[in-house]
Amino acid sequence: SFMHKLTGIADLADCLKQQLGILDVVLVPLDSDKAISVKNQIGKEAARLLEQHFAAQPNVAVTGGSTMAAIAKELKGEKTYPALRFIAARGGLGEDVLHQANTIASAFAGKTGGSFKTLYLPDHLSEEAYTMMMKEPLIREMMDLYEQTDLVVHGIGNAQEMAVRRQSTAEEVEKITEGGAVSEAFGYYFDAEGNVVYRIRSAGIQLEQVQKAPAIIAVAGGRSKAMAILSYFKNAPKHTVLVTDEGAAREILELT
Ligand code: BG6
Repeated sequence: SFMHKLTGIADLADCLKQQLGILDVVLVPLDSDKAISVKNQIGKEAARLLEQHFAAQPNVAVTGGSTMAAIAKELKGEKTYPALRFIAARGGLGEDVLHQANTIASAFAGKTGGSFKTLYLPDHLSEEAYTMMMKEPLIREMMDLYEQTDLVVHGIGNAQEMAVRRQSTAEEVEKITEGGAVSEAFGYYFDAEGNVVYRIRSAGIQLEQVQKAPAIIAVAGGRSKAMAILSYFKNAPKHTVLVTDEGAAREILELT
């Protein structure tokens, strides 16, 4: 609307925070759909925010994604936090290697001087394989680490786009489509009301574990992600801090 066009960045961030009903919104100018530098700015803001948590919250679960990769680039490479432990929020080889949670965890650890834990598993396990896998000591250890998460840092994606990126099977795509999935985060797909409609059958952090983490930072920008962000935050933990851009913010406020 006309009002929104007049609003400056700070007011816009405040409007969005009210609208989504979350702890805080950090907003960068412009739209990452139009310029890659905007995604890097989101990465920079998120990196600064993260650094404020490192001393008190050393167990950090991270997802994959290009926005998460942008944070890794912006973290200061001073290796001053040996106590940090970065945990890949989920296994999965479905994505481009640079954007996998495992790669992100290792990149964050490299920059900060912390350690990291990875989980190499295919994205699409059969039910039998999944049940067997969950009994493996290595997987059990990951599950324990998820339980101890102090801070979750995750991206938010468009459901359809993520299904394609993960080379989901026809059966999965059908479930995602039939369920009316709009958004995706840490392997869960959510409908317009924020209800979980599908979940990737792979080892990873559970929704309940994300919810009870003391701190959560979500990173997602671009006008094209407005619907996904809105869908995810219908039911997301209220103590999440969202780092996003003006393009997404204005579109969300138009839609609501
Ligand atoms: C995936 C994460 O790797 O990236 C998801 O597992 C997230 O949680 C997605 O939705 C977002 O990716 P991008 O590249 O749009 O930041």
